[in-house]
Amino acid sequence: MRKKIVAGNWKMNLTLEEGKQLSSEIKDFVRQNPLQNLKGQPGVILFTPFIHLASVAADVAESEGLEAGAQNCHTEEKGAYTGETSAMMIQSAGAGNVLIGHSERRSYFGETDEVLAKKTEIALKNNLRPMFCCGEVLEERNAENHFQVVKKQLEKGLFWLSPVDFAKVVIAYEPVWAIGTGVTASPGQAQEMHAYIRSIIAEKYGDIVAHNTSILYGGSCNAQNAEELFAKEDVDGGLIGGASLKAADFSTIIKSFS
Ligand code: 13P
Repeated sequence: MRKKIVAGNWKMNLTLEEGKQLSSEIKDFVRQNPLQNLKGQPGVILFTPFIHLASVAADVAESEGLEAGAQNCHTEEKGAYTGETSAMMIQSAGAGNVLIGHSERRSYFGETDEVLAKKTEIALKNNLRPMFCCGEVLEERNAENHFQVVKKQLEKGLFWLSPVDFAKVVIAYEPVWAIGTGVTASPGQAQEMHAYIRSIIAEKYGDIVAHNTSILYGGSCNAQNAEELFAKEDVDGGLIGGASLKAADFSTIIKSFS
């Protein structure tokens, strides 16, 4: 079933203490505002740094609809990969979600479509829900190549999955030019791309799978603009960076469905 989701990507921010504080504030918000009673009945995921993951996962374990996730995983199950973290470890930390292919991983760490396909595979094998990120850079949009770019990212990263596995994936459309820039895609631009993504999922997997896929928007989404973005038919919520670091802003975004 297609689900509304608000996810916070903390990126490389917050000390352990600050992270615990933030997750406990969000937990308090959810206690006072049960997610199933809010408009859209959103699920909420906190994508924390690895250091925070086990404690945040334990902290939110009893909160209905509130989950933890990791921002990355390695392609291999285990072994001599100093400094890396496996999908199995993430699962064992009590987290059920993992971000795959964030544009910062693609650009700063050179993650290719092929690597991201492997990460998706190992995540699913370890019962993690992949949140697969896609999105074009500004030059690609200006050259009107953005649909092609996103299509290729999805084809190479995901469209080799079986329908059963694909149905476990959440997609986040994050135009790179909107990430951390304060420039947001307009609701119309977001809707246009989300509808396109849903249409290519329908071509590949059929209308029912496409209809049931959650497609989130990310890129300078905040407490002021979330409502307008989430009101769009094919925008099923948001992947939030900067504005997820303040409990008050993030809580407002969680309440932004209409
Ligand atoms: P900002 O919300 O800070 O633009 O970041 C978006 C993002 O990259 C979420 O993954």
